[in-house]
Amino acid sequence: MPKVTILPDGLEVDVAPGTSLLSASQKAGALHGSACGGVCACSTCHVYVLAGLESLGAPRERELDILEKAFGVNATSRLGCQATVGEKDVTFEVTRESLQTWLDEHPEERKAIERGEVPASASPELGRRLRKLARQ
Ligand code: FES
Repeated sequence: MPKVTILPDGLEVDVAPGTSLLSASQKAGALHGSACGGVCACSTCHVYVLAGLESLGAPRERELDILEKAFGVNATSRLGCQATVGEKDVTFEVTRESLQTWLDEHPEERKAIERGEVPASASPELGRRLRKLARQ
């Protein structure tokens, strides 16, 4: 099974081919926003694919249309709920926009982070980003 590495959490998870990047995040317990619940309607699951982009299926027109709503789109951008893992390993980074959405979707966790209580499982980089985002 291909391995998926999720940044900035620094988590790794093995998934079956055909698994979406958002589902991989959920399986790994990564912090990954998804305001529309994964139905390709919001762009908040936006990720940057750092390795294995060629392993993902080509984006459909609907994904490209929704991706236009996202911030900071570049050639490695995909929607986590639409891009699915192929046969090769994939590394991706959850965008700032998506982490902000995750905080908005989890008000109790957000309050704890605002108090400086970053989840124990968070990587140092994720902890730094969460503290900064929670204060905005
Ligand atoms: S979760 Fe809304 S577009 Fe992916």
